[in-house]
Amino acid sequence: MEKNTIAIISSNDIKHTNADDVMGFAQNNDLFYLSGIDQEETILVLYPNAYKSENREILFVKETNEHIKIWDGEKLSKEHTSKISGIKRIEWTNDFEKILQLIAFEADGFYLGHNEHVKRATYNQQTLQDKTIQWCKEKYPLHQYHRAAKITRALRPIKASQEITLIQKAANISIEGFHRVLKAIKPNCKEYELEAELTFSIIKNGGTRHAFKPIVASGKNACALHYNTNDNICKAGDMVLLDFGVCYGNYNSDTTRCIPVNGKFSERQKEIYSAVLYCLKEGSKLLKPGVIPADYEKQMAYLVEEQLIKLGLLHASEVAKQDPEKPLYKKYFMHGTAHHLGLDVHDVGLYSEALQPGMVLTCEPGIYIPEEGIGCRLENDYLITDIGNINLTQEMPIEIEEIEDLINI
Ligand code: GLY
Ligand code: MN
Ligand code: MN
Repeated sequence: MEKNTIAIISSNDIKHTNADDVMGFAQNNDLFYLSGIDQEETILVLYPNAYKSENREILFVKETNEHIKIWDGEKLSKEHTSKISGIKRIEWTNDFEKILQLIAFEADGFYLGHNEHVKRATYNQQTLQDKTIQWCKEKYPLHQYHRAAKITRALRPIKASQEITLIQKAANISIEGFHRVLKAIKPNCKEYELEAELTFSIIKNGGTRHAFKPIVASGKNACALHYNTNDNICKAGDMVLLDFGVCYGNYNSDTTRCIPVNGKFSERQKEIYSAVLYCLKEGSKLLKPGVIPADYEKQMAYLVEEQLIKLGLLHASEVAKQDPEKPLYKKYFMHGTAHHLGLDVHDVGLYSEALQPGMVLTCEPGIYIPEEGIGCRLENDYLITDIGNINLTQEMPIEIEEIEDLINI
C-alpha cells in the first residue's frame, strides 16, 4: 500500500431469491484471503501507518442477537472472529462509519476492493463493494483512491502450502466423484443422474459445494461450452463431457473428462480424444516458471491446430495462408486453456505475468465438432514448482483403456 492509506475490504451480499429464501452465500474472496472470515456483513480495515496501534487492523463483524440466534443460529462472536483472523481489534459492523470517521482524516487515501475480473458481468449488478466505493467517494471526496485488487491479484496467485492442501483435497473429492460416474454411466441414463453422483461425493466428503454448476453434456451438447441444464438422455454411441469441480474450505478444483456412454469409444471418438489428450500432455509441460500465460496459450493453439490438420478438419495449405487475426482453428477450438485456480475457479492473476512456483493453473484443451455431434475437452490442475509442475489431478483416470475398463467392471 502507498504510505498513509487505509484499505477497506467488504464482504459480499447475501442475495435474495423472489421471496424470503436466499441464494447460497459466497464470500468476497479478497476478504476471505486476508481475514479467513466467511460471514456476511464483514468489513476489514487496514491502516498500517495509523498513529495509534489499535487503528492499524480493525475487523468489523455483524452483531448478533436473540432473533438471529433463533432463526439462523450462531454468528461469530468477537472472540471467535479474533481467533480465526488473528486480528486483535474486532468491532461491530454497525459502528464502521463512526470508527472510520475517527481515522479517515489522518490518512491521505483509501484502497477499496472491486471485482476486476475481465469477464465480470457487465449488466446492472451493484455489489456491496460497488456501494462502498460510491459511499466512500461521496463522504471523503478529496482523498486519493487506489485499487486493492491490484495488490491481492499479486498475492493470491502464489499459494501457501495450506492452500495447496485444500485444492488437493478438493481434487481428491472430484476424483472420487468421477469414479462414481464411471460406475453409474449406462445407455439411456440422464445427464442429471451423473451430476447427482458428483453431488453425492461432495456432500459425503464434507465439500462446501460444487465449484460451479457442473457441465454434464452428452453428444452434441458438449459443443455448447457452458451447457449445464444437464437434462438430456445419454445415448449409446455418444460421449459425455463432464466439466466439474469441488469447493472445499473455499478452495476449488476444476477438471474435465469425456467418457463413452456404452463403455467403448468409437474409432472417431478415439481419434479426437487422443488428439486432445496429446495436446493436454504436451501443453501442460509448458506450465513452468518463467512462462507467460499469454505465450503458453499461443503454443497450445499451435498444438491444437496441428491436431486439427491430422484429423482432417483443417487443410495445411489453408492454414498456411490464414489471416493470423482470424485463425482457422477457432472454428473447432474457441476458448483459452489455462486459468489460475484457487479461491475462485477462474482465480485472479494476469495473463501477462510470468508463472512462478506456488501458482496453480488448469490446462484444458478441447476440440468441438458440432457437425459430428462430438465435443471433447480434457482438463487437469497443475501446481507450478521450481522444476516444472505437479499434476494435482494425476489420479483421475484419463487414458482411453483405463476409462473403458472402469466403466465395464
Ligand atoms: N468450468 C470452467 C472452466 O473449465 O474453466
Ligand atoms: Mn472446467
Ligand atoms: Mn477450467
